[in-house]
Amino acid sequence: MLQAAINDQGQVSPELRSVFVDVSEHCTLPPLPQVAARALVLVQNPETDFAEMADVIEKDPALAARVLRMASSAFYVRTSPPNTLQDAVRAVGMSGLRDIIVAAALKPAFDLDDRFHRQLWDHSLATAVAADTVARTTGASRGGVAFVCGLLHDAGRLVHHLTNPKAFDELHMAERDEPSMDEREYFGASHDVVASCLAWKWGLDPRISNALIAHHGEPGQNPGLPAHLILGDRIARAIQGDPDEERALSANFLAADLDADPATVVAEVEKNLAENRAFFE
Ligand SMILES: [Fe+2]
Ligand SMILES: [Fe+2]
Repeated sequence: MLQAAINDQGQVSPELRSVFVDVSEHCTLPPLPQVAARALVLVQNPETDFAEMADVIEKDPALAARVLRMASSAFYVRTSPPNTLQDAVRAVGMSGLRDIIVAAALKPAFDLDDRFHRQLWDHSLATAVAADTVARTTGASRGGVAFVCGLLHDAGRLVHHLTNPKAFDELHMAERDEPSMDEREYFGASHDVVASCLAWKWGLDPRISNALIAHHGEPGQNPGLPAHLILGDRIARAIQGDPDEERALSANFLAADLDADPATVVAEVEKNLAENRAFFE
């Protein structure tokens, strides 16, 4: 059983460790840029102050510009737009920063002129917003890691494509978002496990790795963060035109797993996606 195999200290079970070693050897994992790595360590440390964070982010001008843009948006501006990067960092807050940093670190691995990459990026962003919306609707406090889980949940599919685009295309994997024998045979591990490995390699919160590995499970059997991700993935697929998920949504299948009215949640996701997309593009 690979589920929840990473403990709170980030220690991986021996079984999963050997799978991760295999993944690292067989797959092309996108690297975590140095500034992002440093910034993520700071974000995860409750002692970090905003000045320290601003000092690190400043070293990556593209990342700094993104933080400033986000902090200047109507979503964050309370009285007047921030004048300095430190003000911007304070306005966005540590969880907002984590979302931007992970998105900025992941984005360069996508070739947005490639149809599959473009679709996967759009799907990842929609899942991030949907998982975050579900988490908040079900009473989780703001600032959790659901958004990052959504961004990364199908990163294993990107890794598979980057590793061997020919096999990926020949096996029609672009059309199949399910962990499969083909994935295991050609890439050493299915995409849920590869995504979990990537999050672990990047030193992210162990809860993220554990949720990613469960993202094709049933919400009722994976309570908390994994369930928020699973539901976020389904909602994203439905609003992006997956006929199976659309049918499922219209049958109100979400109602059993959500503490809120499904139609309201979906409308909230669509609104949040429209408002947030620009920050991460
Ligand atoms: Fe998936
Ligand atoms: Fe997905």
